[in-house]
Amino acid sequence: MEKITSREIRSKFLNFFEKNKHQIVPSSSLIPADTTVLFTSAGMQQFIPYFLGDTVPPFKRAASAQKCFRTSDIEGVGDEFHHTFFEMLGNWSFGDYFKEGAIVLALELLRKVFSIPLDRLYITVFKGEKDIPRDEQAARLWKKYSIPDSHIFWFGKKENFWGPIASSGPCGPCSEIYYDRGKEWEIRPHTLKTCGPNCGCGRFVEIWNLVFMEYNQLESGKLEKLKKHNIDTGAGLERLTCILNNLSSDYQTDLFLPIMDKIKLFAKKSNLNYQRIIADHIRASVFLIADGVLPGKEERSYVLRRLIRRSIRYANLLGMQGKNLLDLAKVVIDNYKDIYPELHSHQADILTVLENEEEKFSVSLKQGLKKFWQVANKTKNKGLKFMDSKDVFHLYDTYGIPFEIIEQMAKEAGLKVSYQDFKKEFSRHQSVSKKGAEKKFQGLKYWGEKVAHLHTATHLLQAALRKVLGEEVRQAGSDINIERLRFDFTFPRKLTQEELEKVEKLVQEKIKEDLPVTEEQMTYEEAIKLGALAFFKERYPKIVKVYTIGDPKNPFSREICAGPHVKRTGQIEDFKIVKQESVGAGVKRIKATAKKKE
Ligand code: SER
Repeated sequence: MEKITSREIRSKFLNFFEKNKHQIVPSSSLIPADTTVLFTSAGMQQFIPYFLGDTVPPFKRAASAQKCFRTSDIEGVGDEFHHTFFEMLGNWSFGDYFKEGAIVLALELLRKVFSIPLDRLYITVFKGEKDIPRDEQAARLWKKYSIPDSHIFWFGKKENFWGPIASSGPCGPCSEIYYDRGKEWEIRPHTLKTCGPNCGCGRFVEIWNLVFMEYNQLESGKLEKLKKHNIDTGAGLERLTCILNNLSSDYQTDLFLPIMDKIKLFAKKSNLNYQRIIADHIRASVFLIADGVLPGKEERSYVLRRLIRRSIRYANLLGMQGKNLLDLAKVVIDNYKDIYPELHSHQADILTVLENEEEKFSVSLKQGLKKFWQVANKTKNKGLKFMDSKDVFHLYDTYGIPFEIIEQMAKEAGLKVSYQDFKKEFSRHQSVSKKGAEKKFQGLKYWGEKVAHLHTATHLLQAALRKVLGEEVRQAGSDINIERLRFDFTFPRKLTQEELEKVEKLVQEKIKEDLPVTEEQMTYEEAIKLGALAFFKERYPKIVKVYTIGDPKNPFSREICAGPHVKRTGQIEDFKIVKQESVGAGVKRIKATAKKKE
């Protein structure tokens, strides 16, 4: 096979779908606009309202290369194909073509554009489970388009039913396309009687998932049919690049090679798994920081902190210097900056954040290691195998060492730690300190309309900050949960008490004025012309939603945003700024609370 770069694959994919009447949509941010989940983990996320029929889609077909981040795969990182951050190529139909269209397009792209011989392709189909019927129709169509029966495998809900992404939302049965790397790749034990897709041996690689999105799962778990049939597909760019170049792992593709080479250059020891973990985590950290995530103690921030700290730890194990991470980050930025210009425009912030976190962790890791050995020796002297969960928690809480690093150090010392007991200790500690931060362990949450008032309050806050402090204030991040809003913005110094009060008062005034909040859809360019504020301009779809607060001719606030919002500011009450913090070079954070008027 000819050598093909990831860049060519990305653009051939998008060109193919553009020729087939799909609107090419830019990647949305790794921080989802609607707080459905902590991270953007699939290309379909920005389209959820279209699938549900809540919003009329401005186009019937779309395609994108989407930045994705999945925490669920973090333990798998180190092998050939797992990543936390990856790029998903996808095409979508909103009530337009369905199974046949999706199958025809996928086969044409793989066979004609990427020249994959038909006999290399294997397909999985949903075999039916509980009330959801077997997908005979998909199997028939695959056969109609030349896939032989012997290449079609049937699986249940776990493998062949996709979604929803949160506790509710669009979902459906799916067909996965596998690539057969050949018998020589049966490098691990077989886990299926008949080797094929989903056999763990290493021969078959999943390259594309076609979801036939026809259900909406309700909070209760009940499935209801969507009004229209939709298509949602996703192909991992890393894997496609790997198999199209006949490589043994994603880490050998041009998406990783420069980073892997640099790691090899710095490392004094060689361990392929560790090298891959460092490469994956640094790449993911760079993308997360560029999208406004900062390392910290809660939710997203804690995920980023773990990634950075894990890479430092593995770098140490390979004999690398902590500071080498900055050079690796620069390689990532260079490798991607023309595809994702936000990496370039935020380069300085990315490096500062990494440097600060590295400095912080190096100090505490040194002290933490000392403490760890004291505890380990105490445990051994007592003839015990498991380290006391109170000590483990102390290492985590006081020295900031992520649990999995403690677990690994314990293993190296011939000891064990219990995650269950650690979690218990964690919860006990939280309930004692009443911080309720167990959220870290809760995973995903959908607040939806319940927090519409906080979304609107965030817009009021940004507008008020700009009126009081000047236009240099620019959003650097935002996060909403049921209890509060959090707004990060660029500003070089701490705000005075007086300034904070002024901002708070201005927001309260605008709430009292009961201003209308209007929603419009338009192109990104029109929105910017109208003076709408955008967060980072690279991340918006062509058609955006614009929320205007106040008289549209002279609004108090106008922002591009995915919502949801209240209809009038009068629906908000008790707006209060509760905290100001500094979260990095030139970035300030305000936390505020507000209630929805019943
Ligand atoms: N949403 C599906 C997936 O993530 C297809 O893109 O696999």
